[in-house]
Amino acid sequence: MTLSGAETDHYGKTLTRITGAVKSDAVGNKIVNQDVTEVLGLLPHGFVDLLILDPPYNLNKTFTSTTFKKKSIGKYAEWFEMVLVGLLPTLRRTASVYVCSEWYSSTAIHLVLDKFLKVRNRITWEREKGRGAKKNWKNTSEDIWFATVSDDYVFNVEDVKLKRRVLAPYTDGHGAPKDWENTAGGRYRLTHPSNLWNDITVPFWSMPENTEHPTQKPEKLFAKLILASTNKNDFVFDPFMGVGGSIVAAKKLNRRFLGVEIHDQYCLLAAKRLHLAEFDKAIQGYRDGMFWERNTFKVQEVKIRE
Ligand SMILES: C[S@@+](CC[C@H](N)C(=O)[O-])C[C@H]1O[C@@H](n2cnc3c(N)ncnc32)[C@H](O)[C@@H]1O
Repeated sequence: MTLSGAETDHYGKTLTRITGAVKSDAVGNKIVNQDVTEVLGLLPHGFVDLLILDPPYNLNKTFTSTTFKKKSIGKYAEWFEMVLVGLLPTLRRTASVYVCSEWYSSTAIHLVLDKFLKVRNRITWEREKGRGAKKNWKNTSEDIWFATVSDDYVFNVEDVKLKRRVLAPYTDGHGAPKDWENTAGGRYRLTHPSNLWNDITVPFWSMPENTEHPTQKPEKLFAKLILASTNKNDFVFDPFMGVGGSIVAAKKLNRRFLGVEIHDQYCLLAAKRLHLAEFDKAIQGYRDGMFWERNTFKVQEVKIRE
């Protein structure tokens, strides 16, 4: 996905900046094009049901005009703690928090979260794409830490079950399928979601959601977090929004949202995606109210026609 000159002008007018304390009705369904550390003290208190943090990974990485330099784990933890502490007042008592991290700094994220929140799980996403290394194991996984403010939180397990091929088709005593169904596309079972995610690819160039962002995450991944940890009309906040997969998924799933991103080019792409979501609510890999395994597009089509 790219932007024409006219689109750049048009979507540029939809972006916001925060310069003073704001109320929660002023931040709903907005993209703020700013350094999040500038707005931390200005945001309303207690408005967020789900905080999704996908901070710059602790790697040497260039995002259009700026470069994030790899820090020691200790320094990364200090930086992350400063951001998290600034965000805590925005959370409702029932809120959930997810934090994405590459393996190297994951321990720092865990320790910082544990100081302020109830850490509930670590999801490992096998993203299937990574650069081969001659003297190391190829890195194809990322961690997503799950924490909550209190013991009172939303977890809609029925909304995030995975449609899986059945390897061992057990039957009851009369030959009928046990917990699975026989469809024209094969044998499938709806399984409980685990903390090992291998059903989600990165947004490949051939996918409509693909942009130039170097660490863009797929809408399907955000859809899982949002469906599990919020109800309709709840508020999703992503302070390192990138090209906006989280807020686009929130919009498609009828949640309110706020995204903050320092780079205008990424904000503009997110704004275009939000606009397209008015007409197309599809999320690749999530169909018919179900999450599907990778490479099942043909079966999904059969299922829809049934
Ligand atoms: C790991 S990426 C997030 C990618 C995003 N989840 C997506 O799917 O596009 C981190 C993002 O944080 C942005 N960023 C870095 N420092 C920032 C800051 N101080 N305030 C706001 N955004 C920042 C970067 O430009 C980058 O787009």
